[in-house]
Amino acid sequence: MRAIVIHEQGGPEVLKLEEVPQPAAGPGQVLIRNEAIGVSYSEIPMRAGVYPPPVSLPAVFGFEAAGIVTEAGDGSGASLEGKRVVVLSTSFGSYAEYMAVPADSVTVVPGGVTAADAVAVANMAAVALCLLRRARLTGSETVLIEAAAGGVGGYLTQLAREHGAARIIATAGSPAKREHARSLGAGAVVDHTDPGWPDKLGEVLGGAGLDVVFESLGGESAGRLLGAMTPVSGRMLLYGVLNGPPAIAPVDLLHRGLTLTGCAGMGDWLALVQAARGDVLRMVADGRLRPQVDSVLPLSDAARAHERTEARAAMGKVVLVP
Ligand SMILES: NC(=O)c1ccc[n+]([C@@H]2O[C@H](COP(=O)([O-])OP(=O)(O)OC[C@H]3O[C@@H](n4cnc5c(N)ncnc54)[C@H](OP(=O)(O)O)[C@@H]3O)[C@@H](O)[C@H]2O)c1
Repeated sequence: MRAIVIHEQGGPEVLKLEEVPQPAAGPGQVLIRNEAIGVSYSEIPMRAGVYPPPVSLPAVFGFEAAGIVTEAGDGSGASLEGKRVVVLSTSFGSYAEYMAVPADSVTVVPGGVTAADAVAVANMAAVALCLLRRARLTGSETVLIEAAAGGVGGYLTQLAREHGAARIIATAGSPAKREHARSLGAGAVVDHTDPGWPDKLGEVLGGAGLDVVFESLGGESAGRLLGAMTPVSGRMLLYGVLNGPPAIAPVDLLHRGLTLTGCAGMGDWLALVQAARGDVLRMVADGRLRPQVDSVLPLSDAARAHERTEARAAMGKVVLVP
């Protein structure tokens, strides 16, 4: 089969199209004929060498895919054969025509939902839904959503109002992205690439407080946002650190009675996100959630897909098709 193999970490050019043996479904596994493969920002440091790869190299790259189950291994439950499923693997192997994964790691895609849409929502929208559930918005609160034209940020923006946000303020790094964030439901959008953006936010708030901050940028700005948050009831849900660890000391929360909640990791949080995967797929099937597919490229263009993602040009999921 054709697959994108990585022999060593480095620039996008290390993603090479090669012929490799087709995997088979082992015990407890299913074999998926991939129809759509998801490219994620979190894969970039894994390719570039910032993080170690999950398996020794060379290996087939990638974690996310949706496709049809063509083979069920012993003990995997034959009921999945012929079904369209989506998977976020904990190991490499998705940038290929076929991948074998544990049967209990896949989620069945409802009828009428395309593979590209499934892979676009399966992780990012599930994370957004879990964040909104954890935020327990009251119906009258003001929220801040960072990087709102991105994957998780975009779904947060789409879903915040029905989860109880009265006012949605977003951030995005370009005019096109700010326009996109508005189209997804943001009432006001601030440019987070402007170093003074937390002050600009103050102008937008006009003396009101931020009740909930969905924090994915981290870094210096995270600490500066605390001053704009509503004392006592203000809560920050930290789910990413794109600009480094947030500059927040416990004492900064203490004096204003604020709450900081970490929303990441492999334990309970991952279980919640996996459970939410079926919910967001049903929402797509019912027309209650709009999948954000940035672009669809052939598998052979994996390097170009990484360049687009790395350049922060994508608005939603970059999808590869074998
Ligand atoms: N906790 C979890 O379970 C979980 C799961 C998935 C993802 N995440 C986190 O969610 C966040 C968004 O992930 P995503 O998959 O939605 O990504 P994405 O669609 O690629 O969006 C990321 C966007 O963030 C903005 N950004 C700001 N500073 C950045 C920086 N230093 N480097 C890169 N991008 C930067 C960029 O938009 P602009 O052009 O507007 O600046 C970029 O397009 C990340 O922090 C990720 O780690 C968390």
